[in-house]
Amino acid sequence: MTAIPKDKALDSTLSLLREGYHFLPQRRKRYHSNIFQMRLMGEKAVCLSGEEGAALFYNQEHFQREGALPRRILTTLMGQGGVQTLDDTAHQHRKVLFMKLMTPNSLHQYSTLVAETWRAYLRRWEQLEQVELFPEVEEVLCRAACAWAGVPFEEKDIKPLTRDLSAMIDAFGGVGPRHAKGKLARHRAERWVGKMVDNVRAGKQYAVEGKALHAISWHRELDGKLLSTHVASVELLNLIRPIVAIGRFVVFEALALHEHPRCVELLRTGPAQYPEWFAQEIRRFYPFTPLLGARVRADFVWHGYRFRKGTLTLLDVHGINHDERQWEHPHLFRPERFRDWNGSPFNFIPQGGGDYAHNHRCAGEWLTIEALKTTAVLLATSMTYEVPEQDLSIDMTRMPTLPESGFIIRNVRATATTA
Ligand code: HEM
Repeated sequence: MTAIPKDKALDSTLSLLREGYHFLPQRRKRYHSNIFQMRLMGEKAVCLSGEEGAALFYNQEHFQREGALPRRILTTLMGQGGVQTLDDTAHQHRKVLFMKLMTPNSLHQYSTLVAETWRAYLRRWEQLEQVELFPEVEEVLCRAACAWAGVPFEEKDIKPLTRDLSAMIDAFGGVGPRHAKGKLARHRAERWVGKMVDNVRAGKQYAVEGKALHAISWHRELDGKLLSTHVASVELLNLIRPIVAIGRFVVFEALALHEHPRCVELLRTGPAQYPEWFAQEIRRFYPFTPLLGARVRADFVWHGYRFRKGTLTLLDVHGINHDERQWEHPHLFRPERFRDWNGSPFNFIPQGGGDYAHNHRCAGEWLTIEALKTTAVLLATSMTYEVPEQDLSIDMTRMPTLPESGFIIRNVRATATTA
């Protein structure tokens, strides 16, 4: 048996929190290995990197998700009893519920809703001295998400709901007040959508067939039973919360357009595939998901390394998207690189890898790409604006992260075609 290279620290939890997105990629380079181990929260953790590491991580004969997610993530970002925590047939059955909502027509509907909502907000942005893009875009996406999911809301609900969904996302790498805020936000949001599900089932609330609220309210598990109100609320939030998370990528789009003005021109007049390459490079280049976790199902050996049942195993998501063995000059922003990408399910994994039906790969990846194509074109063609002096640095030790200023724009004007 070959020994797995071991991090020397007694426990690396504090280093992970201190080093953030750099933590796993640095160790992969230090040990010149796609596999290494360490202790996290007092527990042994094996870390996998590289395309072959991702392929192993998504082999369900060897790994399962049960017991892999820490409680602090379940009480904030994800919720308990959701699709992320299931394995095997229970997972596949629940996943169908999500994937059925992702038809080409439904993705087109979401993009159209985003464009319409964006144009309505643009009229307001024109009246303001300056606009912080991050919270505004989150609100645009949230409003469009509720309409897309068939979730009714009153005007007064939209700001607090957006803030709550944003707080759940912001909590994932946070401790102390950030964690507490995310937990409270989840509690409020689950109560709000839970009541909606109960009302649909009691016939007190109309739900449009084919939309998420209807599909989740009436989804039956393998035993023929409806989801509990709690699990139904977790799953409904599993759709509208990550749609709001796309707001972080939209802010990165604005940053990329600011730092690479040639991309603005290419979005306006470049090849038809350019918006897609641009959206893909945004998801590859900018930091979002740092890592993923699973547990070893039963003892096995891989390349001479022994994996023991129950061992926590982490996948280096950010590192794989920046792996110099796969990506030429990975730290340069180059949308055109996607012209030649080989489409492997394991070398570009900003929203997980493997396949959608059997693995835990993100159910909303297509929707994310479509939304990002739409917002990139909107940023480049629907408006003009100035970017005043501000702190645009990205703190790579904070998870999740953003440009420090939230991206402030001034003198916003709709262009003639959208006015
Ligand atoms: C799963 C990232 C947007 C719904 C995941 C996973 C990641 C991820 C890393 C886990 C993959 C794994 O465990 O192997 C992201 C990012 C997004 C995004 C970075 C955009 C900022 C969305 C959207 C939706 C969505 C827009 C729905 C509309 C889901 C669901 C799962 C998931 C339901 C669980 C899938 C499963 O367990 O089988 N996402 N996601 N995500 N995502 Fe996303």
